[in-house]
Amino acid sequence: MSFSFNETNSLKIEQLAKRYPQKKALILPLLWLTQKQEGFISDEAMTKISEISQMPYMHICSVATFYTMFKLSKSEKRVIEVCRTLSCELNGSEMIKKHLLENHSDKYEIIEVECMGACGGAPMCTLDGKYMESVTPKMLDEVLNAD
Ligand code: FES
Repeated sequence: MSFSFNETNSLKIEQLAKRYPQKKALILPLLWLTQKQEGFISDEAMTKISEISQMPYMHICSVATFYTMFKLSKSEKRVIEVCRTLSCELNGSEMIKKHLLENHSDKYEIIEVECMGACGGAPMCTLDGKYMESVTPKMLDEVLNAD
């Protein structure tokens, strides 16, 4: 199976390539574009990113597997990410994760991630990539049960 970027993303890549003098700097933006386009990052996509960035496949693989925000397999469930880094942990992320696992893991994939760069809104979660700030179990129940 081969992978190619859609027309919109191909145009974005052309623009990004002009911005970065070194092609290896494209790796993270290309991983993000891939995940937005496909919902996950396949081996075929990593091969394509390797070609575009002119970096070895194993380098792309090591970057994609290092960051917890990149999904390497397709999930049928919608995704909730729970930040587990210090600000969020101090504001109850462990309790949020426990609540999600006990009440919503049948419909949602619950993933722990590192700092989302929005510590002022701790505890932070994302639902399908959209940020949710100052999350409480009640707030999650209202949002998730409304789906
Ligand atoms: S520690 Fe959770 S967003 Fe920064």
